Amino acid sequence: MGKFVAIRSEQLANLLLNGLYDVDQPPSLDALTRLLAKPTVRAWAISARQGIQGVAWFSVVQDEAEIIDIRVDKRYRRTGIGQLLLTQSFEKLRLSDIRSVFLEVGSSNTAALALYEKLGFAMMGRREDYYKTAAGREDALTMRCDW
Ligand SMILES: CC(C)(COP(=O)(O)OP(=O)(O)OC[C@H]1O[C@@H](n2cnc3c(N)ncnc32)[C@H](O)[C@@H]1OP(=O)(O)O)[C@@H](O)C(=O)NCCC(=O)NCCS
Repeated sequence: MGKFVAIRSEQLANLLLNGLYDVDQPPSLDALTRLLAKPTVRAWAISARQGIQGVAWFSVVQDEAEIIDIRVDKRYRRTGIGQLLLTQSFEKLRLSDIRSVFLEVGSSNTAALALYEKLGFAMMGRREDYYKTAAGREDALTMRCDW
């Protein structure tokens, strides 16, 4: 498994993240790249010799953070990278006095839901028909984790 590293805005162009974001599922890498230029947005990755295996993006306001996106390269899924990325990111956020993390996830995203539940996230609410999908629309679930 690769190393946990912080990603800075000016490094993004060299990191070859396109492979992770070649699916037609928002957010786009362009949008994330613009966000990372803001001082309130932070990103970490698992970086190996072969390239970036996974990346997570957070927006931070006062003592709360929100997961904007997390994505693991399809070739490395289910090998613990998503979990490592989040636990290590949370450790960094804790050191910056962040006390809660929020997120929003599609109700059909069983992989992400299982990951978040494993890490102690609790369900907060549901936004009906919030996301557009190939099959129509689906609910968004909001979750939070406090420490
Ligand atoms: C969600 C995602 C980040 C998970 O990353 P990952 O590296 O494959 O997850 P991990 O290997 O660290 O899994 C950790 C735990 O999460 C759960 N989990 C992960 N993928 C799962 C799956 N496909 N089915 C069931 N549980 C799953 C399991 O509890 C797993 O622990 P275990 O392997 O000991 O059973 C990855 O599937 C992904 O990139 N999906 C596409 C992007 C996305 O939907 N992001 C979420 C946006 S809200």
